Amino acid sequence: MDLFEKLKLNRGPLGAYAKDVHGYFTFPKLEGPIAPRMTFRGKEMLTWSLNNYLGLANHPEVRKADADAAAEFGMAYPMGARMMSGDSDYHIRLERELADFEKKEDAILMNFGYQGIMSAIDALVDRHDVIVYDSESHACIVDGVQLHMGKRFVFPHNDIKNLETQLERATRLVADTGGAILVITEGVFGMSGDQGKLKEIVELKKKFQFRLLVDDAHGFGTMGKTGAGASEEQGCMDGVDIYFGTFAKSMASIGAFIASEKQVVEYLRYNTRSQIFAKSLPMPLVIGALKRLELLRTRPELKENLWKIVNALQDGLRKAGFELGNTQSPVTPVFLNGSIPEAANLIFDLRENFNIFCSMVVYPVVPKGVIMLRLIPTAVHTLEDVKYTIDAFSSIAGKLKSGHYERAMEQVL
Ligand SMILES: Cc1ncc(COP(=O)(O)O)c(C=O)c1O
Repeated sequence: MDLFEKLKLNRGPLGAYAKDVHGYFTFPKLEGPIAPRMTFRGKEMLTWSLNNYLGLANHPEVRKADADAAAEFGMAYPMGARMMSGDSDYHIRLERELADFEKKEDAILMNFGYQGIMSAIDALVDRHDVIVYDSESHACIVDGVQLHMGKRFVFPHNDIKNLETQLERATRLVADTGGAILVITEGVFGMSGDQGKLKEIVELKKKFQFRLLVDDAHGFGTMGKTGAGASEEQGCMDGVDIYFGTFAKSMASIGAFIASEKQVVEYLRYNTRSQIFAKSLPMPLVIGALKRLELLRTRPELKENLWKIVNALQDGLRKAGFELGNTQSPVTPVFLNGSIPEAANLIFDLRENFNIFCSMVVYPVVPKGVIMLRLIPTAVHTLEDVKYTIDAFSSIAGKLKSGHYERAMEQVL
């Protein structure tokens, strides 16, 4: 069979729906400066779907640092991979500052979080080692685990009892192979907003020998007293052996890093294939990240504003009778019951008649019959935005219950 013919026949689990949803439910274009109000199909929308947690995307100091760095260095410098010709004092300084912020000995920059962590997992373990990981881990962790040539055991999301069972199995196995154990989880789970049980996992080190890698994409900058993440929030920073953070969320940019012991970081520098064989981060991203990190460290009001909005939104929604699951972070899922066509009509109503833009998650990411609306509050939203949204949500929830969206035959596209 011709490969292209095959691809036309089977477009993949999401691609199968592309014809009907492209441009509205998938690949929507939000236009204008990144802010709580952006334009979607010519209409101004109150937007709750960007991980611009601290509002840095359009912070004037950030925009100036980005623009000045681009004017001075262009987008190319430094050329080549870090190892060959692409290193700079700025890259090294950013790594030093990230390591200090995370209270680790050293840090390594990554071009993208996704490839970075995937490739770091690949580098850290060999076929004698065992990976034990949380079942709700982000796709980049799952892909990283798939590169692993040795055994892998998964534990049901945040089920510490089961993790113990997996660690017992893993311990028996490495006794034979002579390998080691790597446990992987997340600081904040990006869909449900609950935190990985880092403190309890760290406690298990008293019983088992393993190292812990935490993907804290959503916790970096948002959680903990200084914003150092979920492990700071839970008081177990030392127990996290390998800390991963991305610049794509609270830093509102691109790039990522891993912080750990000096020797482990050095090992990663020389063994993480996605970084050794790829171009170094361009200077504007590095200088821009230094500015963002400075603001993150020195402007506590950014995180305070974020949490003011988070608390108002989550408390208000709960008071209005909404089910938010077990979120312990800014990520705010709102669980409703309904079919996929009802979900589509509800989102259409929310966008077209209430001018609210948020993401929708349906089966298979959540169980059949569940509609999850996912709101991401930021430091630049206002209490008026929160109130307006809770009122709108109460209205759409009432319509959903009454069967309105089942009957509605809005022409979405
Ligand atoms: C938990 C988690 N890990 C990793 C990533 C990937 O990071 P990046 O966008 O820097 O590639 C994301 C981004 O969506 C994420 O949510």
